[in-house]
Amino acid sequence: MKYTKLIKFFFWFFIFFWVFMIFVFSFIYINPSFEEGPKWEEIDKVENFVEIQVKFYEISPPFFIIFNGKEFLTLSAICPFRRAILKYDKENKVFVCPSHGEKFDLNGNPLNRKVNRLKKLSLTIKGGNIYVFLGKGG
Ligand code: FES
Repeated sequence: MKYTKLIKFFFWFFIFFWVFMIFVFSFIYINPSFEEGPKWEEIDKVENFVEIQVKFYEISPPFFIIFNGKEFLTLSAICPFRRAILKYDKENKVFVCPSHGEKFDLNGNPLNRKVNRLKKLSLTIKGGNIYVFLGKGG
């Protein structure tokens, strides 16, 4: 009689334990807030862009925000060829790759057509703040 109670107890304990574990693991793996992943980051303020300009943000992943006087465009600062960090040539208004010399216009198009265009990052403005959607690790 005692053994049957003990067996029942362990049986139900085992069932509840695994139901609880399945619940915990599914919550961790399904709920994206538990993951270190892509997210919107507050980057700058709209009021800091008063004229046509290009700003470089040296974070991970590095990128440029281009303001043409009306609209914003966000381009990755990583060269699509061998992933060097691009520099902005203010005089010629182009992005230059320091590794192999590829140049890109302000829309991210390569000027000598050897490589892919620069990757665009999503940008949104809320309450006067600029948010950029940063992917995992660039
Ligand atoms: S890494 Fe950019 S052109 Fe070579």
